Amino acid sequence: MAFNEEQFKEIKAEFTIGGERLHEIAASFRQDLQLGLRDVELSSMRMLKSYVGLPSGKETGDYLALDFGGTNIRVFRIRLDGEGKYEILKRVGRPLIVPGEYNYICKDATAEQMFDFIAELIDEAIDGERGKKFYLGHTFSFPSTQDNIYNARLIIWTKEFATQGVEGEVANDLLVEALKRRGADNVEPVAVLNDTVAVLLSAAYKTPNIFIGSIYATGHNTCYLEPSIHDPNCFGEGGMILNLECGNFMKLVPNRFDKEYDEGSEKPGEQRFEKMVSGRYMGELLGMAIAELLGEKGKKYDLTSIDMSMMILDDSPNLQRASDIIMAKVGRELDLDDVKKVRELASAIIIRSARLVAASFVAIVWQRAGKGAIQKQHVAVDGSVYEKMPLAKENITKALSELLGEDAAQVDTILDNGGSGLGAAIAAAMVKCNA
Ligand code: BGC
Repeated sequence: MAFNEEQFKEIKAEFTIGGERLHEIAASFRQDLQLGLRDVELSSMRMLKSYVGLPSGKETGDYLALDFGGTNIRVFRIRLDGEGKYEILKRVGRPLIVPGEYNYICKDATAEQMFDFIAELIDEAIDGERGKKFYLGHTFSFPSTQDNIYNARLIIWTKEFATQGVEGEVANDLLVEALKRRGADNVEPVAVLNDTVAVLLSAAYKTPNIFIGSIYATGHNTCYLEPSIHDPNCFGEGGMILNLECGNFMKLVPNRFDKEYDEGSEKPGEQRFEKMVSGRYMGELLGMAIAELLGEKGKKYDLTSIDMSMMILDDSPNLQRASDIIMAKVGRELDLDDVKKVRELASAIIIRSARLVAASFVAIVWQRAGKGAIQKQHVAVDGSVYEKMPLAKENITKALSELLGEDAAQVDTILDNGGSGLGAAIAAAMVKCNA
């Protein structure tokens, strides 16, 4: 059965954002930001305080860094030498879920099990050493409220995590208890931060003129340095970094696939922006579109954003690889023309995602500039979608220039690979160097 041409065009149009709409989206994002700065209740974003500003670059010492934000937990021992220099002394990592073996992110898993698993990994990173004190920075990449640098309390799980007993709790307290149970209480968590904040700290430690940090991966979110916020509990320079939790930006019109996906998701009504842009969701959106074209609306295929990447990167004349992926995940052999259409839809979904992300960056750049000129700057981004997904970065750049016009020369995006780990160590150092 060949796809219906009209239906295909209509679906593709659903995932296409023209120039004018993109401007409107950037403006509405900025407005939401301004509302939130006035009163956070007025914004659809959480705009959470981080209690850190920018590092001075002089932070030094050995720290532990825990990167807990996706299905892979990583722990690092990092030596900061100041002046943007650092060395990774040790790196260990393990997934929170191995299908058929264990799963610490599902509804049946408990906070204790999850944090015991993390404590074990931390113990591995310190080689079971008990005689020495280790200060740990904790990148905890889920929306959390805090009123100091230590006490991030999880508001709600995102990225389809569902472990019991963590929502409403202070993540570091759960970690401290697990470390105690393991007898590793010589490890002391001293700072907690969102991964976007970690990326910003990490990038700013190494390079000047960086005020915005973003993650574009399984999840999506952005933070920026807000110069108007001063707080005696805040470490670092230039004001306070606000973690926007813009994955929750709601002032956007979702298409029918976005709506349907949201309704069937772990947390309906939440993270609407993230569900339109991040790697966790793009494959499923594509799957829904294919199901409709195949007359199987409602059917779920296990398509991932990695499948999308591989299909797009297939440049063989008969698109064999793309065809094989469709066969494996959708269970249908499509003719070449339809395989091409699937790739076109995959591209449209990625391009929409990149354009939306770019619009949010521009909104923040505008907001920081106020009535003044736009400062020369880099937006630091980390994450697999930004780094590896074909079409993502180039379409961010294209949309930045569409939105910023002449000012586009002032703003670019740079990859800050591994910022979640380094940033955590820097945050710990910002606390300890000031202690
Ligand atoms: C979380 C954010 C996080 C982002 C990227 C989102 O689901 O809510 O806190 O920064 O994912 O990891």
